[in-house]
Amino acid sequence: MAKDKTTFTCTECGGTSPRWLGKCPSCGAWNTLVETVAESAGKNRMSTPQFAGLAHAQAVTPLSAIEASDVARTPSGIGELDRVLGGGIVEGGVVLIGGDPGIGKSTLLLQALDALQRAGLPTLYVTGEESGAQVALRSRRLGLDHSQVNVLAEIQLEKILATVEATQPAVAVIDSIQTVYSDQLTSAPGSVAQVRECAAHLTRAAKATGVSMVLVGHVTKEGALAGPRVLEHMVDTVLYFEGDTHSQFRLVRAIKNRFGAVNEIGVFAMTEKGLKGVSNPSAIFLSQHSEPVPGSCVMVTLEGTRPMLVEIQALVDSAGPSPRRLSVGLDRDRLAMLLAVLHRHAGVACMDQDVFVNAVGGVRISEPAADLAVMLAITSSLRGKPLPRGFIAFGEVGLAGEVRPAPRGQERLKEAAKLGFTVAVVPKANAPKKPIEGLTLHAVERVEEAMAVVREMG
Ligand code: TYD
Ligand code: MG
Repeated sequence: MAKDKTTFTCTECGGTSPRWLGKCPSCGAWNTLVETVAESAGKNRMSTPQFAGLAHAQAVTPLSAIEASDVARTPSGIGELDRVLGGGIVEGGVVLIGGDPGIGKSTLLLQALDALQRAGLPTLYVTGEESGAQVALRSRRLGLDHSQVNVLAEIQLEKILATVEATQPAVAVIDSIQTVYSDQLTSAPGSVAQVRECAAHLTRAAKATGVSMVLVGHVTKEGALAGPRVLEHMVDTVLYFEGDTHSQFRLVRAIKNRFGAVNEIGVFAMTEKGLKGVSNPSAIFLSQHSEPVPGSCVMVTLEGTRPMLVEIQALVDSAGPSPRRLSVGLDRDRLAMLLAVLHRHAGVACMDQDVFVNAVGGVRISEPAADLAVMLAITSSLRGKPLPRGFIAFGEVGLAGEVRPAPRGQERLKEAAKLGFTVAVVPKANAPKKPIEGLTLHAVERVEEAMAVVREMG
C-alpha cells in the first residue's frame, strides 16, 4: 500500500513543517512538532481558504427539531465502575483509562469484559502488552475459568480495526493505546504521533460502528497520560486509577465525562481474586491509632457524590539550611501558601522547619476544603500535641486568613457523626441550624479563631 505523505504539526499553534525540527517555525515553541499523516490534496483542499467558496453548504436543523434521545447505556456488571461511568458503558462511547503500571487497569477491564460477556454481549480484548497466554493466566487467577471473552494479541492498528469490523463486538478494550501503531506513520509505537493518530482512528471507528471502546493509557511520572493531552479531548470519558500500589485500595476517578458527572469516584480493593468494589468506603483512609497522635487531623472530603473521611498527616521537624516542603496527595504550592497564611495570620512560624504532609492511603485530594485540616495537622506536629479524640475539621482558607465554606457541609458532618466523630471545627457558613446528634460543633470565621479553639481543647 502506498504510504500517505507525513508532515510535522505543532501541538501548540498547529503550524506545519515538512521536516522534524526542535523548534516550531511558526510559534517558536520547543519540542512541539509531532508527525501526522497529511491527507491527500483531494480530501483536504476545502480547508484551504482559496477553495472555501467551492464547498457545498449543508442543510442545518433548528435544535428543537432534533430529537433528544438519551444515550443507550449497558451496565458493566461492576457497580463501582458503572458509578464512575455515569451508569454504564455507552454505545459508541470511547473511554480512556489511565494509571500507573501495575495498578490494576488490565485486571479491572478483564473482569468487566467477562461480566459483559456473561450478560450476553460480545466482547473483544486486544492485548498489545501481554501475550494471549499471559491474559489467560490472569483470567484463571481471577477465577474466570470459562471466560468467553475474545482475545486478540495484535498491535497494528489496521489489523485491529479490521478485526473489530469483522467481529462486531459490543465492547472492545485496547490494552494499551501506547503499544498500537499504524504503518501510515514512520514514528515508533508509543510516540506522540502514533498514539494520537491511532486513538483518532479508533474513536472514529467507535462512532461509525457503535462499538464501545476502552483505551488503556499509561501515565508518566508527572501524572499526565503519556503521549499528548489531546487524547483527553478526543475521547468521551477519561478515568484515572489512583492509589498507592502498596496499599490494597484503588480509586477510579472520572476527570471528564460527556455522559455523566465528573469527579465521581469508584473504590476498589485489590484482592487475591482481582478488584472488588468497596461500596461503603468512607472510613478506609484513616490509619488506626489507638491513641491520638501529634500531626494527624481527619477531614471529610467530598468526592463526587460520596463523603469520605481522610486522615491528613503532617511532620514538622527542624531543618538544615534549606527547609523542605513536601506533600503526598496534596498540592505542594497550596502547602506553601497555607504555611504563609499560618505565619501571617496565626503567628505559627515554620520557616526553619522541614514540613511534610501526606493524605493517608494514597488518595489524592484536590479540593481546598482540606486547608483547615492541613493547617491543624501542621500546628499539632509543631507543638507535639495531638488533636482531641474524635476530632474532624474541614474548610478552605483564603490568603486573608478567612475560613470559607466547603460545598455540602451538612452531608460531610453527618458522615463524620455516623462514623463516631464527636468534635468538629468547621467554617461558620457550614454550621447547620439544627445540631447534629453526637457532634460538638465549633464554627469559625478566621484561621486564628480555629487555632484558638483547638488550643483551648488542650
Ligand atoms: P494489572 O492489572 O496488570 O495492572 P496494569 O494493567 O494497570 O499495569 O495489575 C497487576 C497487579 O495486580 C499486579 O501487581 C498483581 C496484582 N493482582 C492481584 O493482586 N490480584 C489479582 O487477582 C491480579 C490479577 C493481580
Ligand atoms: Mg496492564
